[in-house]
Amino acid sequence: MKLILFFLTVILLLFSCTGRKEKKQNEGKTGVGTEIKKLTAEEKFKTMCGICHWQEMPGKPVAPPVFMVRRRYLMQYPGEEEFVNAVAGWVENPSREKALMHGAVERFNVMPKLGYAKEDVKEIAAYIYRTEFPMPEGMGRMHRGEGRGEMHRMGK
Ligand code: HEC
Repeated sequence: MKLILFFLTVILLLFSCTGRKEKKQNEGKTGVGTEIKKLTAEEKFKTMCGICHWQEMPGKPVAPPVFMVRRRYLMQYPGEEEFVNAVAGWVENPSREKALMHGAVERFNVMPKLGYAKEDVKEIAAYIYRTEFPMPEGMGRMHRGEGRGEMHRMGK
């Protein structure tokens, strides 16, 4: 009888411990939820666009680096407001007809429609407008006239 009571207590103790652990994990999860809302424009860019548009992609590129996109859009839309509207309009509904970067469309196909919230995209677009991204590796060479590479064609 004493032995059974002993085991019962041990089991109860174990249960209360795991219970407490689970609660802690759940608290962690809600913590992460609130973190997402606090992301800066830079972090939003990196997670929502950078997976395709980042500068130093390991392996084969899947989209033109943000440096190229920014430069092409600045050529067409030098003011911040028109730039932001053009980028946000593009992300909302990308299409071959609207595309400015025909070389990139040819190479990668049209950017997929992503369904992001417009206010996030506008915040990201303003961040892109205000940020001087470094020229990606290999582009400097092309601009010094040492051959016409893929990066060059992408901007056309
Ligand atoms: C799944 C990959 C992917 C993601 C994610 C992505 N893009 Fe793109 N994007 C592409 C590809 C591929 C192209 C090149 C083809 C084209 O121009 O449509 C492109 C082209 C563009 C262009 C140039 C369009 C033109 O005029 O030709 C802009 C501007 C752009 N992306 C902005 C963004 C922004 C801002 C985000 C994040 C909110 C984003 N992209 C997320 C793949 C992506």
